[in-house]
Amino acid sequence: MFEQLRPILPTSADAPDGELRLGGVPVTELARAYGTPVIAYDGAHLEATARAWIDAFASHPAGATVAYATKAFSSVGMLRLLGDLGLGADVSSLGELQVALRAGIAPELIIMHGNNKSRAELEAGVEAGVGLVVVDAEQELDLLENVLHVADATQAVLVRVNPDIEVETHRYISTSHAGSKFGVTSDVAATLLERAAASDRFDVRGVHVHLGSQLLDADPWRRVIAWLAGWARELHDRTGVVIHTLDVGGGLGIAYVEDQVPPTPAAIAAVVRDALSESWQAAGLELPHLVLEPGRSMVGQAAVTLYTVGVVKQTGDDDIRYVNVDGGMSDNPRPTLYQARYRALLAERVHDAADAAWWVAGVHCESGDVLIEDAPLPTPRPGELLAIPATGAYAASMASNYNLVPRCAVVLVENGTHRPLVRRETLDELLARDVDAMVAST
Ligand SMILES: Cc1ncc(COP(=O)(O)O)c(C=O)c1O
Repeated sequence: MFEQLRPILPTSADAPDGELRLGGVPVTELARAYGTPVIAYDGAHLEATARAWIDAFASHPAGATVAYATKAFSSVGMLRLLGDLGLGADVSSLGELQVALRAGIAPELIIMHGNNKSRAELEAGVEAGVGLVVVDAEQELDLLENVLHVADATQAVLVRVNPDIEVETHRYISTSHAGSKFGVTSDVAATLLERAAASDRFDVRGVHVHLGSQLLDADPWRRVIAWLAGWARELHDRTGVVIHTLDVGGGLGIAYVEDQVPPTPAAIAAVVRDALSESWQAAGLELPHLVLEPGRSMVGQAAVTLYTVGVVKQTGDDDIRYVNVDGGMSDNPRPTLYQARYRALLAERVHDAADAAWWVAGVHCESGDVLIEDAPLPTPRPGELLAIPATGAYAASMASNYNLVPRCAVVLVENGTHRPLVRRETLDELLARDVDAMVAST
């Protein structure tokens, strides 16, 4: 099992005695220290991935900013680690902005997103001095202009354009098709850029596109740059607006199961470079400063979630084999939301051969709370640890308290040591907003 799943595990994972270790720490030690479920990030894997992204674009002649998309998972410790390596941050809420600022990310490396930004969010972004606000709608341009007028400030902006490009991914995480709630059509984008350029409150830097998420093919980046080149040429000729900055968003996928093989950041960089020379420069445009916003590909494969096995049973006409674990859709909603696929390991005996396909079910009161429907495993034993790899993105950050379960701990492992990034929620914290519960306990 271990060798077969090697490609989807963090790089530091090993199992010299049959027990999975992450960053040199045996998983039983993590379970003892933090309880289960627990999400463990491999620090070495994170650092290597961040460097791979930075190195891939380091030679771009007009410069490149790699801004980690904090929605994938954010904590101050995680952002400090990534920020120290030179990454900026893509934020889309007051919470994400706060975490990025507290982690010490330079405001000029913070990019503010959102398809429905509130006045409070825009004010906070302007006050913090964020590097870019990505305008998502005409109404938002008006609101931001008013915020800037009141603050007597100026702001560098991009406009999010919807390129109307279909990509291969789950429809809930595809964002660049016509009719998506994100961004504006190319015609409206041109109008907004022209309008912003006419206002002394805006420093118009360029455009943003985000194709979708979990893309396993680099071709959409080539297609979108080719399309943008024609559009930018026409925009410039008609209005004089220059695209100085081209933000091509995030979207690179990861391997959740062994048969998925995503391109590397270097492969994406090569496609972007070729597309820029074939279409952008060919259209007579100056090379733009690039912005990349990797989220999933930055942190997704760096983490493993550990659960404790509970009830093991077979049921139904098909004799489905269920292994129930002590978490589920509350710590990882992706299988329920997008039918996302995962693999699992019995973490204390990773070299044992699988004897059947198991359904890994969560504790929640939904039949859809099944993390995996076809996990090849040896027969699980109650009380042992089950590990699900590749849970670093959009799991903890989408966690809920469904069934009033406390959210799990998130930890960092490196060089044989471990430390919490986010500690487990307590029952008191869980009830802290329930006004009557707090009155009753005093
Ligand atoms: C604007 C924007 N940038 C970046 C990302 C990160 O995408 P991914 O995690 O697929 O890299 C997203 C994800 O939704 C996004 O909406």
